[in-house]
Amino acid sequence: MEEIRNQGPHRHEEEIDDDDTISLDEAFFINDNYQLTNFTFGSQELQLFSLHAASTDFDLTGQVVWPGAILLNDYLSKNTEILQGCTAIELGSGVGVTGILCSRFCQKVVLTDHNEEVLKILKKNIELHSIPENNCPTSHGLSAEKLEWGNSDHVNRILQNHPGGFDFILGADICFQQSSIPLLFDTVKVLLLIKEDRKCKFILAYVSRAKTIDLMVTNEASKHGLQMKELPGTRRIVGNLEGVIFEITLN
Ligand SMILES: C[S@@+](CC[C@H](N)C(=O)[O-])C[C@H]1O[C@@H](n2cnc3c(N)ncnc32)[C@H](O)[C@@H]1O
Repeated sequence: MEEIRNQGPHRHEEEIDDDDTISLDEAFFINDNYQLTNFTFGSQELQLFSLHAASTDFDLTGQVVWPGAILLNDYLSKNTEILQGCTAIELGSGVGVTGILCSRFCQKVVLTDHNEEVLKILKKNIELHSIPENNCPTSHGLSAEKLEWGNSDHVNRILQNHPGGFDFILGADICFQQSSIPLLFDTVKVLLLIKEDRKCKFILAYVSRAKTIDLMVTNEASKHGLQMKELPGTRRIVGNLEGVIFEITLN
């Protein structure tokens, strides 16, 4: 039997029998060959590290920029006035293309993700946009925090660090896995409720890939007592799929 040995930090060992141990290092399977990539959204140009091909691993979806982010960034770049001086938290930020664009207009943007590998590249992109000599417009008030939907410890830490809440919750292409949608809405509901004036809005760029997920998103919004409004003029084809932007608020 072929034996792969690796003494890396995330070593997995599977005992086959007494003498035969296969050790696999997760890092061996992770592609972190990120490329500095240029994006244009209306008049906004943005340079970020990202991969160009999606991983087949659900957890590493955040290493590439998804069609929902293109849809949301195009919309936001045409409507920058809504962001001026506001605060925002992004869920499932991936490489950070949406949050980093918003930080040009907002006073504070918190980018979040649950995946450690994705958080690493997210932090690297935040760093890139915090150093003026990188030829990128400098962004202010950007930070990254770990937030797994439905994880009450993570949400509580966000509440502690940002007791005043946010004007916007942003989500681009984050509804693609059925099991995580109820948890996503649990977290959204908590975040919507922090702001005392109840004026926080969840802006969700949704890309339709399966009828069951389309239905689940509307059902979960309604189960959580939320109102979902389609933003006029945002329904369009992105990456061969139909996308639309919803504004979701407390009822
Ligand atoms: C399809 S990618 C979209 C990334 C980015 N918003 C974009 O549009 O390019 C989904 C993102 O959500 C994150 N994600 C998936 N499930 C999550 C969960 N349960 N909690 C927090 N983040 C999650 C993934 O790590 C990934 O970054």
